[in-house]
Amino acid sequence: MTLDTTGRRYLMCRPTYFAVDYAINPWMDPSAPVDTALAVRQWETLRQTYLDLGHRVEEIEPLPGLPDMVFAANGGIVIDGRALAVQFRDPQRADEAPAYRAWFERAGFTMYDPKHVNEGEGDLLLAGDLLLAGTGFRTAHAEHAHLQEVFGRPVITLQLVDPRYYHLDTALCVLDERNVAYLPAAFSPGSQAVLRRLFPDAVLATAADAAVFGLNAVSDGRHVVLPSQATTLAAALRDRGYETIGVDLSELRKAGGGPKCCTLTLREGEASK
Ligand code: ARG
Repeated sequence: MTLDTTGRRYLMCRPTYFAVDYAINPWMDPSAPVDTALAVRQWETLRQTYLDLGHRVEEIEPLPGLPDMVFAANGGIVIDGRALAVQFRDPQRADEAPAYRAWFERAGFTMYDPKHVNEGEGDLLLAGDLLLAGTGFRTAHAEHAHLQEVFGRPVITLQLVDPRYYHLDTALCVLDERNVAYLPAAFSPGSQAVLRRLFPDAVLATAADAAVFGLNAVSDGRHVVLPSQATTLAAALRDRGYETIGVDLSELRKAGGGPKCCTLTLREGEASK
């Protein structure tokens, strides 16, 4: 197996204005206190982790009044130098979409606009040649067909059934071009069968690992950056030969996010894996 661990280019958004002001997923409790300064420090550690691994990190300017903008994975999906902009389900996040779109345009990507609700890499994950596409809570099923037209990759629809795992990237992590880790119970029976067929050697996460956002991990094919609390999953990944790096994003978890939510992969031409 060839491991491409070089040349990753990520987009991140500093959580300067991070807060939990509204609840659009079961993790969010607007009455619970949030330490924004701690969120920034935890986010900076995540960013530094990528830099230490030799990846490039670009930043988009955070905007006041958009407390969830830190979750850059929801800003779009970028493959082969093409960027598909997003359309959020919830009005609270709607203004993030044009901000991310403008960033992609300035960065020189060819822009495509969504036709239905589409929350970017939160629900759309590239696994080798396949585009795994979640639906059920956020991204509309109808958008999956559009996605296939834009990127020319086979799109595999996966039905999410547990409201705690409302985005695909909270229930499944792409480890490399051939394998994934996931929480079976987060998917419908049919989608579980599809996952077993496509990834017979997948790493299956425990409920406890998923509940600390262990699957909201970022892999470069060799190193897996995941929440430090997901200890069983980390051990399982190390058994399979991956190197794991734990990060603590406890403040961001209060909004229902983890490392992957904070990270959008920018794939141009060659680095399209
Ligand atoms: N509060 C945000 C929302 O509910 C969290 C987004 C997490 N992002 C992700 N890629 N899973 O939309």
